[in-house]
Amino acid sequence: MKGVILAGGTGSRLLPLTKVTNKHLLPVYNAPMIYYPLWTLVNAGIEQILIVTGGRNAGDFLRLLANGKEFGLKRLNYAYQEGEGGIADALRLAEDFAEGEKICVILGDNILEGSIKLAAEKFKQQTHGAHILLKEVSSPERFGVPVFAGGQITRIEEKPASPASNFAVTGVYFYDATVFEKANKLKPSRRGELEITDVNNAYLREGTLTHSILEGWWTDAGTFESLRLATNLVAEGLARQ
Ligand code: G1P
Repeated sequence: MKGVILAGGTGSRLLPLTKVTNKHLLPVYNAPMIYYPLWTLVNAGIEQILIVTGGRNAGDFLRLLANGKEFGLKRLNYAYQEGEGGIADALRLAEDFAEGEKICVILGDNILEGSIKLAAEKFKQQTHGAHILLKEVSSPERFGVPVFAGGQITRIEEKPASPASNFAVTGVYFYDATVFEKANKLKPSRRGELEITDVNNAYLREGTLTHSILEGWWTDAGTFESLRLATNLVAEGLARQ
């Protein structure tokens, strides 16, 4: 399985921190944000990794990470997202890289305490479809939120005003090769972006989306509050070691 880190976007919720740099290069305690999703993929045994980024600071990723030697990688792959078409638009750039293999996609601002190795191993056994990781959160309205009926997800709502459950769809997704035709069929949402939630809903309609609950803490780091939380969680985790 190959890995894709989506690290584009304007990071507008973190202005002015993101005025002269990319959100994913900002520090989360003692490491640049992008290090965390890279560690997550590498620790799951994924060695072929594509970083999709964009904007004026894309070159800084190469300066920071080069071939990924620090992560035990032979080399890293990079793609450049033109414009601000959203997460699913960025994902479309991974089609040639994937070469028909299954992929694990992680959002560049997602920081996890635990490992996704087990989930990755399980997904390798899943013949087709997709797998998402859920986490119970106190403010689901900030995320993609699953709607359940009889223990099954019937729909995922992106940032709903009245969330139907207390779960967030985390930014770690496992997809088969049909993800690209699904992403290519999407229409822009109200905020003018191709939404990853609509990709997941396409798998749901097909009946091939499975899910599990993520163990350990999880947070994004795309707002001031979540960036502070991420920094604290990482610092506390290191202090316990
Ligand atoms: C994105 C997704 C959302 C998901 C979240 C996880 O939100 O659209 O469904 O729950 O990542 O971090 P965004 O970061 O664009 O607010």
